Amino acid sequence: MAIDCRQFVDGQIRDLRARVGNETAITALSGGVDSSVVTVLGHKALGPRLKAVFVDNALMRENEPQRVVEMFGEMGIKVDLMDAREEFLSALAGLTDPEQKRHAITDTFYSKVFGRLVRESGAKFLLHGTILTDIEETVAGIKRQHNILTQLGIQPEEAYGYSVLEPLMTLRKDGVREVARFLGLPKELSERMPFPGPALATRIVGEVTPERLDTVRAATAIVEEELIDCGAFQYLAVLLNDMATGIRDNRREFGQIIVVRCMESVDAREATVTRPSWETLDRISKRITQIKGVNRCLYDLTPKPPATIEYV
Ligand code: XMP
Repeated sequence: MAIDCRQFVDGQIRDLRARVGNETAITALSGGVDSSVVTVLGHKALGPRLKAVFVDNALMRENEPQRVVEMFGEMGIKVDLMDAREEFLSALAGLTDPEQKRHAITDTFYSKVFGRLVRESGAKFLLHGTILTDIEETVAGIKRQHNILTQLGIQPEEAYGYSVLEPLMTLRKDGVREVARFLGLPKELSERMPFPGPALATRIVGEVTPERLDTVRAATAIVEEELIDCGAFQYLAVLLNDMATGIRDNRREFGQIIVVRCMESVDAREATVTRPSWETLDRISKRITQIKGVNRCLYDLTPKPPATIEYV
């Protein structure tokens, strides 16, 4: 659906100014296109009364926190990098149930890390990049998105002491990208592949530990490098919770399994599987099975539905 970007941007800037008044707001930037657009809108509306923070939750891809801070610096928007790795890792320790993992991330983010940040900064508002698809899927009970609160009946004012503003809640991903281009964001941000808020935790079946994060992070870097020019909607690596027998250095090895997924979609509500060349898949498999402890690499052929794109 084509949107009138000028009208949308002007309207959101007016609304943000009216809602925030003379108070200050915080934005949690993740580097995805949604939170990037929200940060630029917030910066345009509020200038220095918007504090932009990148929370390093230990679940990000290789060099992602530093790269995002750098890109926004180049646009003249200062982003503070906050190291909350220990807090997230300890909240996730021992958890294997998908909903419990998501809940631990939501809770650590909103009530601990962000609650503290907001209290320290005195900000009364949190700008968030929730989009229409997040709301629909959460309300439909398909998945608990980490950034949905009011739709689940949680009142952030009462629960956490601040209000959440969601300027993109009428847009889907394609609309957000149109607005990003209109705002002049660099391509690396406007065309950025979707990446979930709970980050690599959605790609680890079973417990999220620093070691397992290292494994899926290394596999993710390989998949992203090999498929960068494939033009697909989203491609990713998943670490399963199963083990398989293999052979390394002439010895039997009980090793880990990585699944590679590459999907075509318009807005992530439905998705089909792409057909990378055999050579590409072969190269990915050879590289992934060089990661320490990984001796099997699978390609997932399941569309959405019945599967979802992520595994957790
Ligand atoms: P699924 O796995 O539900 O994913 O088919 C649909 C799209 O949404 C992304 N995704 C998320 N994004 N918070 C987000 O911000 C989440 O909790 C979340 N879960 C999935 C996923 O990467 C895909 O693009």
